[in-house]
Amino acid sequence: MAKLLVTNRDGEETAIDVGGSVSVMEAIRDNGFDELLALCGGCCSCATCHVYVAPGFEDKLPAMSEDENDLLDSSDHRNEMSRLSCQIQMSDDLDGLKVTIAPED
Ligand code: FES
Repeated sequence: MAKLLVTNRDGEETAIDVGGSVSVMEAIRDNGFDELLALCGGCCSCATCHVYVAPGFEDKLPAMSEDENDLLDSSDHRNEMSRLSCQIQMSDDLDGLKVTIAPED
């Protein structure tokens, strides 16, 4: 079980307990955050699961694929902390991970 801290677009932070094999996107979506649309269902083709990842977990996050990088480039809100949450698999190593849902494009 790992803790995931999610800040929504109103700036409110919620802690979620995540178990099993789910992505950060699935964990957020399945815990009632309807502002994370995740339209493509996690197949890295929509960028509506865009989040900002707080510093401190860089070494534990999976490397960004070319597809993810290209999709993030299509967002007006990309910054150096941007990731697609469907491309990050939750694990105990990521216990305490903090993400903020990016503004809608
Ligand atoms: S859910 Fe579509 S890219 Fe992540």
